[in-house]
Parts: sequence; C-alpha cells; structure tokens
Amino acid sequence: MSDLPVFPEGFVFGAATASYQIEGAANEDGRGPSIWDVYSHTPGRTDGGDTGDVACDHYHRYPEDVALLRDLGVESYRFSIAWPRIQPTGQGPANQKGLDFYSRLVDELLEAGIEPAATLYHWDLPQALEDKGGWRVRETAERFAEYTAIVAGHLADRVPRWITLNEPWCSAFLGYSVGRHAPGAQEGTPALAAAHHLLVGHGLAVKELRAAGVREVGITLNPDFNVPATDSDADRGAALRADTQHNLVWTDPILAGRYPASDEDTWGELITRQDFRLDGDLDLIAQPLDFLGVNYYRPTLVADAPHREPDASLRTASDNRYVERSWPDVRRNSMNWPVVPETFTQLLTGLKERYGDALPPIHITENGTAEYDEVSADGAVHDADRVTYLQEHLTALRTAMDAGVDVRGYYVWSLLDNFEWALGYAKRFGIVRVDYDTQERTPKDSYHWYRKLIEAHKG
Ligand code: FCB
Repeated sequence: MSDLPVFPEGFVFGAATASYQIEGAANEDGRGPSIWDVYSHTPGRTDGGDTGDVACDHYHRYPEDVALLRDLGVESYRFSIAWPRIQPTGQGPANQKGLDFYSRLVDELLEAGIEPAATLYHWDLPQALEDKGGWRVRETAERFAEYTAIVAGHLADRVPRWITLNEPWCSAFLGYSVGRHAPGAQEGTPALAAAHHLLVGHGLAVKELRAAGVREVGITLNPDFNVPATDSDADRGAALRADTQHNLVWTDPILAGRYPASDEDTWGELITRQDFRLDGDLDLIAQPLDFLGVNYYRPTLVADAPHREPDASLRTASDNRYVERSWPDVRRNSMNWPVVPETFTQLLTGLKERYGDALPPIHITENGTAEYDEVSADGAVHDADRVTYLQEHLTALRTAMDAGVDVRGYYVWSLLDNFEWALGYAKRFGIVRVDYDTQERTPKDSYHWYRKLIEAHKG
C-alpha cells in the first residue's frame, strides 16, 4: 500500500448509490411512478430501452448490500430516498410501507456500524407532479418541503447527515433543456424557472431539516472544471460562460446569496430578470449549510461558439455560446470522459478561492469511474484502471486539503454497478460487479483496494 494518500483522523470514507439506479421494485408496496419510470419506458429514450424496474433489486437485497458495505469498512453510506415511495403522487399522506423500507435500511446500517447519509432528491420526481408542471412551477418546491418534513419526521433521529438535492444542474438543464434526462423536455426559459425552483425547494427543505433537529444539512452539486481550449480571449470567455452557467448559477445563490452578475446573456442574468423570482428567495436559498457535497468525475475543455437560437428565451442548455472539445492525450474511461486527476485539486482550490470563509466544509459525495470491466477466468474483476483512477483522485483530493480546502469525507461512486440513467446498464461504475441475470454481486479489485485503504486508516 505504498503511495497511498493518508487522510487526517476523523476523515469519513463512504460509498454512494441512488434509489432509482439500484432499488428496482418499481411497482411494489405502493410506490407511484416517477419521471424516470415514464422516461425510461418511452421508446428511444434510454440505451437498449433499459429501465429501473428491477435494477439491482436492492429493495429486496439490501441486507446483502449492507453486508458488503460492512465488510468494506466504510463509515458512512450515502443513499437516496425515492419520493414516489413516500408519496406516490407527490402529495398527501405518507405511504407507510415506503417509510418502513428506509427505516429498515437505516436500522440495518446502524447495526453494521455505518452512518446513514440520506439524499432526499436524486431525480425521481413523482410523475403526478411533473404532470402539473414539475420543477417549472413553484408548487413543486412546496411539495418537496412537505415530503422532506414527512421523511425527516421518521428518520431524523437515526440519520445524521442529510443532502437536499443531488446535482440540480442535471435536474434543471439535462431534464428540461437538453432533454437527455427525465422528463426529457427541450425548453429555454422554463428550464431557468426549474433551476430557481430547485433552489427554492432546497431552501425550504433546509428549514424542515433544521426544524427536525438533524445534525448536518448540505446539498450536492456537480461543479464542472472548465478549461479554455486555447489562450484566446474568445475561448477564455467561453470557459467563463460555461463556469457561470454550470456552476455559479448554483454556488453563488447558495453560498453568496446572489445570482452571478455578468454583462452577457448568461443564465444568472436571465434568472435575475424573471418574474418567477420572489422577494426573499435568495435569503431562503442562502441559509447556512454544514457541508457542501461535491460530485466530481472529469474536467471539460471548452471553446467559443456562436449562439444558434437568436431569441434568448428559446435557447436550450446546449446552445450556450460554447462547445466542448476533446481533451487531448489522456486516457478516457468507458464514458469517454478524460481522466485528469489534477483538475480535482484545481476545482477544489478554486472553490476555496472564490468563496473563502463562506465555503462550508466539503464532502466529496461522488467520485469514481465507469470502465470496460470483464470477469476473468478466476471469476474476479481485475479493474486496474478503476484502482488507478481512485488512487489518483484521492491523492489529488489530499493535495487540495494540504492547500487549505476543508474536506471531511469521500464517497466512492458507486457501491454497485447500476442503472446509469439514459445510458442504461452498459456503463459500470461499481466497485462491486452486478450480474443482472442472476443479481450476483462480485467485489472487484477496486473494492478490495478501497477496503485496504480504509483499514490502513483504522490503525
Ligand atoms: C452523477 C449522478 C450519479 C451517477 C454518476 C455517474 O451525475 O449523480 O447518479 O449517474 O453521475
């Protein structure tokens, strides 16, 4: 275990998953349909027509999965709660069987000595709320607060760490503008409204979690690390626009209580001009947090490009006056993502530079890689590329901490191979392989590597 990064005492090692990606049991115990059920069942939306109907069957196999976590030695497990299990139509009384499932999971974790970390929204919006406008309308934020109150009322005593939203950029822009995530809309201004309402929903949920007396509250973002393709002013401007539209539109309101100012038609500016913003919203959004969750996978190389749509209100998130270029001379994983670990350090030190003391402690709530895994003749999965990826990214993380960024924990994405959204089951991010025919779980080499790293920290 030479060359392994050493983390300070108290640093939390964890693993993460999300409800729709692993649970299956889509029609059981009163669960209602979510936007991902509808999207994945719509022909042509997901690769191979894959759906989360069965996924890893975690709903029934959670004791086995918790045992895998226990043997791995993680101190914390990040999972998400499926809103449509708790409120099948997104409003009204709780479905007791849905609450019971998470209650059983939490008890199983606590018995295994693992701290639960719950995400309230990892993208499975009840379809009934989408039918009323989804995140384009403010009412959804209010419903989200009610749902949060129900869940916190049942689990606050046993779940210390809470995450309101996972990657709201994906919900707003991949969901309502690019159309590659549920509900698959391709719109302009309504996607901005969705972004704002997600932030409002976050603020309302923070209040509910505080009222329930939970120990730690945070939100998980997926800040991009945008690098200009060349040194030209045009490409540097493009990188700044990408940064504003992907990152600052979230971090500025949450951490600094403002939308990013700009003399360009960027989304921060556009949101500021819209009537869906109400007085007091920014105070609600900018409530103090105990931690910021950061998901990081890869950097983005961006170059200047003209707008295609002249009318700003009709522009989608793929018409941003910048385009992504291919990162040269680096390894690419099976997502075709460039592997450039030092950008992880740069991203984190950049956050610290921008927000200073307003930056709360950070938990890396996701980091990992999809690789071309194969089962060897010996029955094992020798995923050397994933081991290298994890080792290099954890080292880059440690470097950021040495440079003064307060990082408290790291959750590997993901415990299990799972339903990778529009890409279906072909992309494997797990440190445990799942055979989808038999549901057999096989810990990969990366699992054993991570276990040793954690063990080395237990002294
Ligand atoms: C993130 C998502 C997570 C998973 C990883 C690969 O954007 O939060 O559910 O799909 O990417």
